[in-house]
Amino acid sequence: MSGSAIQSPVTLAVLPGDGIGREIMPPTVEVLKAVGRQFDIPFAFKEAPVGGAAIDATGRPLPPETLALAKASDAVLLGAVGGPKWEGLDYAVRPERALLGLREALGLYANLRPAVLASELIDASPLRRELVEGTDIMVVRELTGGIYFGRPKGVETVGGPGGEERGVNTEVYTTHEIDRIARVAFEIARKRRKRVTSIDKANVLESSELWRRVVNGVHKDFQDVELRHMYVDNCAMQLIKDPRQFDVIVTTNMFGDILSDEAAQVVGSIGLLPSASLGDAMLGRKGGGRKGLYEPIHGSAPDIAGRDMANPLATILSAAMLLRYTLGHEPAAAAVEQAVMAVLRAGRRTADIARPGTTPIGTAEMGRLVIEQIEHKGAAHVA
Ligand code: IPM
Ligand code: MG
Repeated sequence: MSGSAIQSPVTLAVLPGDGIGREIMPPTVEVLKAVGRQFDIPFAFKEAPVGGAAIDATGRPLPPETLALAKASDAVLLGAVGGPKWEGLDYAVRPERALLGLREALGLYANLRPAVLASELIDASPLRRELVEGTDIMVVRELTGGIYFGRPKGVETVGGPGGEERGVNTEVYTTHEIDRIARVAFEIARKRRKRVTSIDKANVLESSELWRRVVNGVHKDFQDVELRHMYVDNCAMQLIKDPRQFDVIVTTNMFGDILSDEAAQVVGSIGLLPSASLGDAMLGRKGGGRKGLYEPIHGSAPDIAGRDMANPLATILSAAMLLRYTLGHEPAAAAVEQAVMAVLRAGRRTADIARPGTTPIGTAEMGRLVIEQIEHKGAAHVA
């Protein structure tokens, strides 16, 4: 036993969702139980349906009971939502709505997506070692604004003999939304290498012009941090050309969605990237949401679902972020991360990161190996 003991139960809403979400969640819960035993953390897990699974069970992607559970819990652990079965549905009731609904209802405007290249996994990156070695980027994605939530939106029939239609979404940002996410980025950068790159499309979009102006204003309070601006198209290129130039990237909801997938691949696999979605209270500010939501950045991967092939590490590493940000329990978070690295160092890989010519292991086996590491604390236990 080590670390500080936590007395009252830590309530976690477990929302596996769809597809591989159902396979990556059980090993993650087992990992948390193992960590709980090790560090005396009394977890209480409560599971609820979300996304397609919830549509099937209740007709709605985010049933009121699931939202109530999320609100009543200390943190939410989410797998993935969506799949071909629900693709034909109206946008208002699609599985993805559950995710947006949770983020909005819980006030989780700051999405942290760390893309770190583990030295154990240099061979999993498509980039050459000399370009990618040492990459360590924190993508700070705005999560409750922008084109995901802006109005007007929808598809309308504009008429004519062909029944012409018009689809609309709107990119909207207000001063305070930009201000608070910029502060998060600068504060995080202060604890890292003190460099923020703000990504926008200010050469074309008015909303980006405001974004850039507000970020520059916030920067006045963070003169010890270096700020530069970059257009999103250039950033997409620079991430491949020279990923090590980035420390903290701060950007809008949609640009962050896209660039974080790219950053994930740069460091090996989308199956490895965790995320934390935080609100004001979690970020040490007054008011706003109190919860943290933790989820892998990947989707439900219907193509490999049900085959024990998915990489559970992004979700397991999201649980480590939960230990760090919601519980403030650094030793427990580090124990999970070190266990994951030990398993990777021993060469045990799921299919997405397996070296050519090696036999990949399955989802459940990967979970078992991580737990074994946690329980044997660093002993060279991975066969
Ligand atoms: C993500 C996902 C989600 C998003 C989808 C599933 C709604 O791609 O978390 O990156 O676009 O935010
Ligand atoms: Mg995404």
